[in-house]
Amino acid sequence: EKSRIGVTGLAVMGANLARNMARRGFPVAVHNRTTSKTTEFMKDFGDEGPFTGAETLQEFVDALETPRKIVVMVKAGKPVDAVIDELAPLLDAGDIIIDAGNSHFPDTDRRTAYCAERNLRFMGIGVSGGEEGALLGPSIMPGGDVAAYSEVEEILTTIAAQVDGTPCCTHVGAGGAGHYVKMVHNGIEYADIQLIAEAYDLLTHVAGLSAPEIGKIFEEWNSGDLESFLCEITAKVLAKTDDTTGGPLVDVIADQAEQKGTGRWTAMNALELGVPLTGITEAVFARTLSSLADERQKASTTLGGPTPGGGENRDDLVEDIRQALYASKVVAYAQGFAQMRAASIEQGWDLDLGSMATIWRGGCIIRAQFLNRIRDAYAEHPDLDNLLMVPYFTEAVANAQDSWRRVVTTATEQGVAIPAFSSSLSYYDGYRRERGPANLIQGLRDFFGAHGYRRTDADGSFHTRWAQDGAEVRTGD
Ligand code: 6PG
Repeated sequence: EKSRIGVTGLAVMGANLARNMARRGFPVAVHNRTTSKTTEFMKDFGDEGPFTGAETLQEFVDALETPRKIVVMVKAGKPVDAVIDELAPLLDAGDIIIDAGNSHFPDTDRRTAYCAERNLRFMGIGVSGGEEGALLGPSIMPGGDVAAYSEVEEILTTIAAQVDGTPCCTHVGAGGAGHYVKMVHNGIEYADIQLIAEAYDLLTHVAGLSAPEIGKIFEEWNSGDLESFLCEITAKVLAKTDDTTGGPLVDVIADQAEQKGTGRWTAMNALELGVPLTGITEAVFARTLSSLADERQKASTTLGGPTPGGGENRDDLVEDIRQALYASKVVAYAQGFAQMRAASIEQGWDLDLGSMATIWRGGCIIRAQFLNRIRDAYAEHPDLDNLLMVPYFTEAVANAQDSWRRVVTTATEQGVAIPAFSSSLSYYDGYRRERGPANLIQGLRDFFGAHGYRRTDADGSFHTRWAQDGAEVRTGD
């Protein structure tokens, strides 16, 4: 009997996806470039379900029913192209190659066209949830041809996480849409994590709490509006004792954050689209700044400023930080969803944003209670410009904003960097202004570059001869 689907690339994500499929009864062929990995996999997991271990790519391809469905789980970038090039000559027209890694969406568009020229179908699918998600039920964001998706829909919706009986998997859109949405998911993940880190910094240095004490606070927060996987694991990370020192493990982890690129891509794409994506972008920059460890070391003894600590009513401060975290989180999601909307229009993807919120409710890293609210918001207003404008979020932020402003003020006075808290608040204040200060920007641009401006009281574009006779001339419609 031939296998329904194949997985090539048996590092932990690929291995766990294959195991997830086989455990649910789907016959899976597995392959890895280094054969010993396949042998090891079959030895360790071969009896978990209907597996066929293939040593060569030819054996792998021969083991699959047609049209073949091949999940490629290798490192994003050149390795994906290499696997496609090796597979293509062995495949038949209509076979489907599925890239389940964190590929950049323009690469997915390019590979889709490349495969189409060879009569092959290509799908880029976002998979979130880390190792455990891949094994027990990830959130899956499949992009590509709908007909190709229908060939794998049963398998993907079965292995995905389920929330209230709904699978966390739905067809996202054509071409690179799936990888695009996964990219924004990761960007939001960056913002969420940065906001949590800023809350932790304030709780440590302003409120004077220890890591395990802060862990308890996150555990409490996780039972309210902030309920989410990231809050849950924050509590666990902060509670962990280090075997070597006997103190909190987090206290001896180096403070330099790494990144593999998805957050940076999200920010770069926002700049290209012209979408204000301050929360995620600040989160990317905060990681970059954290990595300048040597420079920070020198600056710490050279650059003056307040040393944070004390002087606050601790319970009030903790509650203020909770509210600031929630309001900033709402802003980060509002920005991320606005970006997906802009991209959808530009690329013609016709993304259903409510469905994106729905498939992020379970399985993925940013899974959270409040995605239900986002889903509801788009169900009622599919063309919503900005999530902040639906009553639920308008009120949530209105209620949180006094606390949010106090936190930003306190942090600023005490010298604690809060790029995501403060930029989110500035975005909120900028967005709710009917008239901002960009009139002056336009005046300056016109002064030095004759770039022109529009008037509030007349149609057309204008230029003032600032440095000559000071007269205004009309320059166009
Ligand atoms: C997920 C994660 C996953 C990965 C991130 C980490 O959704 O399961 O987002 O894809 O852990 O890419 O990204 P950084 O290494 O850039 O933090």
